[in-house]
Amino acid sequence: MSERPRVWVARPLFDDIIGRLREHFDVDAESDDRVWSALEIGRKLCDKDGAVLGVSDPVDAVSIAQAPRLRAVANVAVGTDNLDLAALTGAGIVATNTPDVLTEAVADFAWALLLATARRVGEGERYLRSGAWNGWSYRRLLGTDVHGRTLGILGMGRIGQAIARRAVGFRMPVIYHNRARLPAAVESECRAEYAGRDDLLRRADFLVLVLPLTPANRHIIGTAELALMKPSALLVNVARGGIVDDAALVAALQAGRLGGAGLDVFENEPALHPLLPTLDNVVLTPHIASASVAARRAMTRVAVDNLIAALGFGPDAGRPPNAVNPEALRNGARRG
Ligand code: 8YV
Repeated sequence: MSERPRVWVARPLFDDIIGRLREHFDVDAESDDRVWSALEIGRKLCDKDGAVLGVSDPVDAVSIAQAPRLRAVANVAVGTDNLDLAALTGAGIVATNTPDVLTEAVADFAWALLLATARRVGEGERYLRSGAWNGWSYRRLLGTDVHGRTLGILGMGRIGQAIARRAVGFRMPVIYHNRARLPAAVESECRAEYAGRDDLLRRADFLVLVLPLTPANRHIIGTAELALMKPSALLVNVARGGIVDDAALVAALQAGRLGGAGLDVFENEPALHPLLPTLDNVVLTPHIASASVAARRAMTRVAVDNLIAALGFGPDAGRPPNAVNPEALRNGARRG
């Protein structure tokens, strides 16, 4: 009898969903969250055929060199910047992601951060919890109106579009910039107007970033870009740390050259720029934009389906639905 493939699950997920892997594979599932280096991941993968992992679990050439049997890695995320796709493709290892199922949850959260930043929800909560509230004031914690202001979106993929659709109720004009302009029908459905990048930066009262982290997008928002923004504008990042130059952002916030920021992602997360937590005009959350029960369960389901298919089982055997480097499959994917 041939040996069952072995898979590694890098983080505690939902046992009922992960359990489906056991129908086909021997599963080594971590029961605690921890920070993994690429080298440590390589060690875990030295005898594995596949892995389920997340955006802070790096797989690079060093990991791959230690994993001669590895054929598939299933990210429980839409972003894949933790994966060296060129190295994976070169080694014939297919990588998959979990698009669509988190789109609406992330869009909800972008609005949560936008509203919390504009209306100073974090400051209000801290104030109350500190016990300092001893009477009413008309001038305490005055914020910025959201309704009627201009919403700018940089990166207009599925999540950007879902954020734009929610602006109708706030009667906000929406402008966006994207590498490729959207078809007119999509623009009109999202009620979004295309703008050049600098025009977007100049006009937005709220700028929401929804770009993937790629080498071209690293520090796409830095000192020069922040200088174009209105001093009253608020920046919201639900995409990736690293697309914003955090040091430049802190400098702009400290100097009053930017109104505030709502940040779910950070350049060196889980570490924060040391001055960010000292600033009152920022709302900080720990990379939880997709963290609704439904979205995280759906992401886990999609990742499990992808891995089962990538390793040659189930209805999509050999054709994982969300391969991000399908050329790894075409050009001599590793055989089990
Ligand atoms: C995930 C994300 O929650 O999907 C992504 O790319 O950034 C988040 O939605 C997180 O990455 C968990 O893996």
